[in-house]
Amino acid sequence: MPQLAYVNGRILPLADASLHIEDRGTQFADAVYEVCAVMNGQILDWQPHLLRLRRNLAELGINWTMADGPFTLQARRLISRNGQRDCIIYIQISRGTARRDHAFPGDAPANLVMTVRRFDFAQRVKQLATGIKVIIQSDTRWGRVDIKTTGLLGNVLAKQAAREAGAFEAWLLSGETVREGSSTNAWIVKDGRIITHPTGTSILPGIARDSLIRLATAAQMIVEERPFTLAEALGADEAFLTSTTAPILPVVAIDGQAVADGRPGPVTRRLGELVWNEVARQTGWRA
Ligand code: PDD
Repeated sequence: MPQLAYVNGRILPLADASLHIEDRGTQFADAVYEVCAVMNGQILDWQPHLLRLRRNLAELGINWTMADGPFTLQARRLISRNGQRDCIIYIQISRGTARRDHAFPGDAPANLVMTVRRFDFAQRVKQLATGIKVIIQSDTRWGRVDIKTTGLLGNVLAKQAAREAGAFEAWLLSGETVREGSSTNAWIVKDGRIITHPTGTSILPGIARDSLIRLATAAQMIVEERPFTLAEALGADEAFLTSTTAPILPVVAIDGQAVADGRPGPVTRRLGELVWNEVARQTGWRA
């Protein structure tokens, strides 16, 4: 079956899907996006993703008139037409197509595109046992990274540096503070306390982050939302990261230095059980 994409109400083969070259997403990164996990044909945490998308559109004043009901139907239609049970759906809404001018165009309707790509979530469960490595990069991004825009060049360059260093992720440093990863949220564990950077304007408020805080708190674990330094991360008992495409992965080395004994720890393991149980509860998916 050819891979299908969605462009402004039409579903068509991915190879034939396109936007006008004066789409403002291309010229100005004047676009927001979401990435959602689809497991067993069900979208994980759909309502929180929808809420974040709406908040981001409002922050940027992008006029998006489709109601949640029809929008959800369009996303589900693309997923079912693609026929993949385990995949990620990418959703992008730009301010529209207009003659290039920095100021907002008066009357251009927003452009919605969606793509679906098969994803192997089982590999993420396997990686719970081995963990992954991160490197440190300085955070060169703009001042409103809480808004999920397609302006991701700082993230792209950091991720490429990680790839070249043989690491899974780059953690982004501002001064002494570890903010988050290039496409994931960053966490450490010290003396049983689970620590992650607070939301605000300097990290993306991850859906997986939010979900993990709820699950950990419900399990009587202690979560501290506060900035932590690179020195704290290097001296942590455990470290891990979260995102839609990596719901939870232990971090066993930071910039070539082992975290504790260099193996995934018990708190991360316990959180892994909670996270994957929640996935099973919502979607019925099991590794
Ligand atoms: N990335 N921080 C950054 C900078 C991100 O880009 C992401 C998500 C996250 C985690 O957010 P969530 O839990 O909502 O996935 C944190 C997506 C997956 C991406 O850009 O592909």
